[in-house]
Amino acid sequence: MHLLELGTAVPDPMAPYREVDRSSPRHECWVAAHMVAGLDGTTAVDGRVGALSTSPDQDLFRDMREIPDVVLVGAETVRLEGYGPVRLSDDSQARRRNRGKADTPPIAVVSRSLDLDPAASVFADAPEHAPTMVVTCAAADPGRRAEVEEFATVIEAGEDRVEPIAAVRALSGRGHGVVLCEGGPTWLGELVAADRLDELLLSISPVTGGDPLPVSVTPPGADMARFDLKGVMAESGTLFLRYEAAVGRSATDERSDR
Ligand SMILES: NC(=O)c1ccc[n+]([C@@H]2O[C@H](COP(=O)([O-])OP(=O)(O)OC[C@H]3O[C@@H](n4cnc5c(N)ncnc54)[C@H](OP(=O)(O)O)[C@@H]3O)[C@@H](O)[C@H]2O)c1
Repeated sequence: MHLLELGTAVPDPMAPYREVDRSSPRHECWVAAHMVAGLDGTTAVDGRVGALSTSPDQDLFRDMREIPDVVLVGAETVRLEGYGPVRLSDDSQARRRNRGKADTPPIAVVSRSLDLDPAASVFADAPEHAPTMVVTCAAADPGRRAEVEEFATVIEAGEDRVEPIAAVRALSGRGHGVVLCEGGPTWLGELVAADRLDELLLSISPVTGGDPLPVSVTPPGADMARFDLKGVMAESGTLFLRYEAAVGRSATDERSDR
C-alpha cells in the first residue's frame, strides 16, 4: 500500500495523455474509453451525464478528442445526450494537422435498430472532412439501412449484432489507428468483454446518486478484465485515473491466487 500525495501542479493536464504511446496496440488498433462516474459508480443522472461532470472533467472530455482518429459511441448515448460532431479548439486542430490527422475526428455510432434521426446534429452538422459513420450488423432492417445510407456512411460489422472485434477491425481498416470510445456503458461493456479496451480514462466525481448504470455493463458470461493503473491526477475533488489493459495474467489468474 502506498500513500498518494498531491504532487506539483500540472501546467497542461493534457500532456500526460498526449505522451502515451498508442502506436503498438495489442490488437487491430488502440481503443481508449473515456468515462465519468460518481463515487457510487453511477454514470448518469436522469439519463444524462452532465450532473456528474465537474468543470475540469468537461475540459478533459473536450480536449481528449484531440487524440483519436475516430470517436466511437453507442446509439443510446447519441440519442439521450443529443450528440453533435466533434469540435476542437484551433490549437487542438493545429496539433492534429502536425501529426498528419484530419482537423477533427469523425464520430461512429453503433446501432442495430438504426433508430437514428437524420436531423440530429451528429449527422446534420458533421463536417465534410469527417462525415459521421454508423456501425451496424447484417440483421439490421434493410429499409432503415437504406434510409441511413442517405445521411451517413454505413459500416457492417457482425451478423445479428455488431461484433466489437469486427467493428474495431473495420475502423482500423479505414486507417483509424486510435479509437476513442465515449460509452455508453452497454457498448463499452461489449468492447471490454471482447478484450478490445486498451486504455480507460475514468474520472471519479465526488458525488453519489443517479441512475443504476455502471461504467461498463458486462454482458452475461463474460470474464473479468484486468487493468493496470498508469496515472492519477486530481482537481477540484475529481480524480482522473488512467488505466491500461494488463498484459499477461488474466483477472481469473489473479483471483485464483487469493
Ligand atoms: N458517465 C459517462 O461517462 C457516460 C458516457 C456515455 C454515456 N453515458 C450515459 O449512458 C446512458 C446510455 O448508455 P447505454 O449503456 O444505455 O447505451 P449505449 O451503450 O450508449 O448505447 C446502447 C445502444 O448501442 C447499440 N449497441 C450497443 N451494443 C450493440 C451491439 N453489440 N450491436 C448492435 N448495437 C449495439 C444499440 O443501439 P440501437 O438501440 O440503436 O440498436 C444499443 O441500444 C445515458 O444515460 C448516458 O448519459 C454516460
